[in-house]
Amino acid sequence: MKEFKRTLITTALPYANGPVHIGHLAGVYVPADIYARYLRLQGREVLMIGGSDEHGVPITIKAKAEGVTPQDIVDRYHNIIKESFAELGISFDIYSRTTSDIHARTASEFFRRLYDNGQFVEKTSMQLFDEKANQFLADRYVTGECPHCHAEGAYGDQCEKCGTSLNATDLINPRSAITGNTPVLRETKHWYLPLDRWQKALEEWILEGHKEWKPNVYGQCKSWLDLGLQPRAVSRDLDWGVPVPVEGADGKVLYVWFDAPIGYISNTIELLPDSWEKWWKDSDTRIINFIGKDNIVFHCIVFPAMLMAYGDNFQLPDNVPANEFLNLEGDKISTSRNWAIWLHEYLRDFPGKQDVLRYVLTANAPESQDNDFTWRNFQARNNSELVAILGNFVNRAMVLTFKYFNGIVPQAGALDDVDNAALAELRQSVEKLSEALDTFHFREALKEAMNIARIGNRYLQETEPWKVAKTDPERVKTILNIAIAICANIAIAFEPFLPFMSEKLRNMLALGNLSWHDLGKADIVAPGTQLNEPQLLFEKIEDDAIQAQLDRLAAIKEQNRLKAWQPEPQAAPVDFDTFLKLDIRVGKVLECQAVPKADKLLRFLIDDGMGTRTIVSGIAKYYKPEDLVGKQVCFIANFPPRKLKGVESQGMILSAENPDGSLTVISPADTLTPGSKIC
Ligand code: MF3
Ligand code: ZN
Repeated sequence: MKEFKRTLITTALPYANGPVHIGHLAGVYVPADIYARYLRLQGREVLMIGGSDEHGVPITIKAKAEGVTPQDIVDRYHNIIKESFAELGISFDIYSRTTSDIHARTASEFFRRLYDNGQFVEKTSMQLFDEKANQFLADRYVTGECPHCHAEGAYGDQCEKCGTSLNATDLINPRSAITGNTPVLRETKHWYLPLDRWQKALEEWILEGHKEWKPNVYGQCKSWLDLGLQPRAVSRDLDWGVPVPVEGADGKVLYVWFDAPIGYISNTIELLPDSWEKWWKDSDTRIINFIGKDNIVFHCIVFPAMLMAYGDNFQLPDNVPANEFLNLEGDKISTSRNWAIWLHEYLRDFPGKQDVLRYVLTANAPESQDNDFTWRNFQARNNSELVAILGNFVNRAMVLTFKYFNGIVPQAGALDDVDNAALAELRQSVEKLSEALDTFHFREALKEAMNIARIGNRYLQETEPWKVAKTDPERVKTILNIAIAICANIAIAFEPFLPFMSEKLRNMLALGNLSWHDLGKADIVAPGTQLNEPQLLFEKIEDDAIQAQLDRLAAIKEQNRLKAWQPEPQAAPVDFDTFLKLDIRVGKVLECQAVPKADKLLRFLIDDGMGTRTIVSGIAKYYKPEDLVGKQVCFIANFPPRKLKGVESQGMILSAENPDGSLTVISPADTLTPGSKIC
């Protein structure tokens, strides 16, 4: 493998149309941060670039829905996103935004150079237009049936069901997302990037040159290339975005997927105005794009074609370790359905527990397939892994060192087999850990890091220093020297994953700067070092905290269900004579009681105009019996009697089913005479 001088890590720029959620974190930002921290600990030259994607239809749709300007929306969410990333310890060298001046200039210049060099095709074509909104409809402004999988609700740029990338005019039965109207076709001019011109170069670069890419990434690229690349429009008729910098382009802006990836470059320029070029144009720089699977085509096909068209030695990514999606409690995460765990809310609800989230998201990272986040798993991983394995080992090692040596690291004597075995296992784990990190297998890497704590626990279990102390105090010195060495290895090995824990542990161990090159060593903390008082690294998460989150999700699910409620379709036709056979009457409730040992049933005594009758009805969950006394009800009088929980029911009281599934008794609005027939 080629040795690079430096690594540029980019992270997909999240749309500033909402806060970031655990899906974004697990897919992009946590793995990117782990990788950046790992390289920094190795002493490598690294840059980690991030920022908000502030153009595009997701932003303008949100603004319209709230009756505010797109600028209001992006200002609000950019700040929430930026602050919450910082609090989670995502170590961007810069987190900027695509509404910056530098970005407008950079994106404009990029387009202009391609334009001047004949890298675009100018084409006039018929596009969807909403006459009521007086606006062209592209991307998310239009929905319809997917021409491939025939799912409803596909967007003008992509079908979320089958993942196919679309043109708005491909949609079957398109509808405007603004007015709901059926659009008409109207002529408009746009600039297209002829991807077909880059077909061969892309094939060579990816299919030949990057067989090591993750199978999901390589496979998606291959199927795109196998289909044959088509020119893609890179401008839009919109008023929010970077204006197209050529004559006669009034009312046209750059397509958001043209300007956003240039954001990686403009953010680098903003950070390093004088030295940014070496990060982009030097073949000794290794570029890694961290993204989610829905971004693969843009990062592996479109942006690379743009960079090749620009020329000037712009480097293509060396790897694009895209992840699959994370689900939440079995359902797809969705910003619009509010089905998510929002980072800023997590940080509010679980203060000081950044590392727990980082840990759980990495342990469940959707690296090779979609994966599920559940709150119960979150709790279990905290309580039985972070607390019971990692925290427990470090605490035991520290407390024992304070107990026997006042917190001064003892000198080791001659090592015996147990000691050597533990240290050998440690070195093995550390080796596997580095290898997993080098190949973007972060779940695997975390497992190896965790294995170091397991080795530590096993070592203390086997050597039992608390027993040996009574007979052989010299031996205890060796044991705790090694235990502290394992703690120091933990501080380093976990820094990329759990930086807050690592920092705390580093302080307890009185260590200076951590270095990856010390991993595996047994003398990271010098004998004689005075350690600082042990503190607990993790605390148990109780059931009530988890239940509160589950309750919140249940409430959201219920809201969504109500929003999506539709009346049942009409039943099959029935003839009038059949209807007439039913004898439906008005009655008055004389008495009402719960039926013993039946939590659903109420027993009614009804004045039916002819006398009284008993009816049992399954509505106990929705009423207090006494509230029904005196009420008029409607009932079917001519059902044959039947026994319910030992009570004979002589009819059926009519209720309506509400959208939430509850039942409401039908009561006449006017006071009627009991026994009146309903017809
Ligand atoms: N905003 C896009 C998304 O959330 C990602 C943009 S990545 C960039 O899917 F490369 F364009 F910046
Ligand atoms: Zn589809």
